Amino acid sequence: MAKKLFIKTYGCQMNVYDSARMADVLRPLGYESTDSVDGADMVILNTCHIREKASEKVYSELGRLNRAREERAARDGGRMVIAVAGCVAQAEGEEIVARAPFVDMVFGPQTYHRLPELVARASRAGGVAVLDVEFPVEAKFDSLPEETSPPGATAFLSIQEGCDRFCTFCVVPYTRGAEYSRDADAIEAEARRLVAAGAREITLLGQNVNAWHGRGLDGRDWRLGRLIAHLADIDGLDRIRYMTSHPRDMDAELIAAHGSVDKLMPYLHLPVQSGSDRILAAMNRQHTAEDFRRIVDRLRAVRADLALSSDFIVGFPGEGDADFAATLRLVSETGFASAYSFKYSARPGTPAATMENQVPESVKDERLAGLQQLVDGQEAAFHRSKRDATVPVLFQSRGRQTGQIVGRSPWLQAVIVEAPETLIGAIAECRITGIGTHSLHGEVLDDRRRPETERACA
Ligand code: 5AD
Ligand code: SF4
Repeated sequence: MAKKLFIKTYGCQMNVYDSARMADVLRPLGYESTDSVDGADMVILNTCHIREKASEKVYSELGRLNRAREERAARDGGRMVIAVAGCVAQAEGEEIVARAPFVDMVFGPQTYHRLPELVARASRAGGVAVLDVEFPVEAKFDSLPEETSPPGATAFLSIQEGCDRFCTFCVVPYTRGAEYSRDADAIEAEARRLVAAGAREITLLGQNVNAWHGRGLDGRDWRLGRLIAHLADIDGLDRIRYMTSHPRDMDAELIAAHGSVDKLMPYLHLPVQSGSDRILAAMNRQHTAEDFRRIVDRLRAVRADLALSSDFIVGFPGEGDADFAATLRLVSETGFASAYSFKYSARPGTPAATMENQVPESVKDERLAGLQQLVDGQEAAFHRSKRDATVPVLFQSRGRQTGQIVGRSPWLQAVIVEAPETLIGAIAECRITGIGTHSLHGEVLDDRRRPETERACA
């Protein structure tokens, strides 16, 4: 009988991708994915370490899991394997074993291709946790099996991992390790398989994805703009996106691709973190607010309908009122379709954690609220700007109410329409008839399956 595997994913899209690949690795061992802890034979928490809140969640979840395991054993004598994967496992492996000694396996993001071996070791270990937090990143991509998880209309494809930028607040260079890029031929092969399995949109993933540089099909070193242009030639692939990027790695070729590759969607997530040059320098971002503005201008010059999203940190050590005002100014001047703002969270082992002038929590709260209010207004204005527009929507799933289906506009807005489910997986032109807080309502104008070669009008 098949064994049941439940993976709970925290954090970023890279973890979502990794969870799917862990399921692929475990499938030949007889594990089938399930969407609840109930009756699961193995539970993996794929964890996130980026902010304190994210990592603390793991320990409370582990407590709940241990109780679920005991109940299960009492009920039917079944055994549930508990594993912790991802970035908390990488950063706090030993601590997890000390704080939650009932855990069976702890393994980092670079080792899940070795899961079969780890599962065997765990079953021999008889209740003693086995730990694997090594860093052989190349081996992982080379030795993963081909994906067997069905992708749906939209798919993630991990092309790059790790980061060499060392922003002073960030744990990624420590948990995910040095920058590593996959070669273009392996990426193309995976993209073709995803498209053959039904994906029409692919999001290229990496912690610092636009730092991607790999061996191209011509043997030369390619950068991301070239890779995107190459992938755009794949028939049946209609939409390409990439995330997350660093402003310093937005090179001329990549900016040009936004103007010349129609399949590259006009929506870019480009974190800037702060609008203050003093804080940007303390963050080791290696660019100024003006550099960011210039990049945005160049992008908009080649693609007028490009919408931007970003990440911001408020309350970085030493951030004063004038610094925060500079951030608000940058947001007002740039105009974002969406943005994520976070209170600075000191992460052990990062340079900023020991900086002087840590900002009080109450000030962070106030700034967060102010920034979020500004950004919410911009997001609402962006949604409103699409009223009565005709936009191509890629339908992905059923809606909450019967008869509704939901898809995404080129700008990642959720669009809800009343239409037959047969449209799921297709792109249809829709007129936007209503604007909600987090979604748009529309009607289908034309349900012919068509490649997205035309520009959507804004
Ligand atoms: N504190 C708060 N936010 C952080 N981020 C990364 N590290 C921290 C931290 N220590 C935010 C950044 C990044 C996003 C993924 O998370 O804004 O772009
Ligand atoms: Fe972290 Fe991104 Fe900076 Fe890399 S570029 S250190 S992933 S915030």
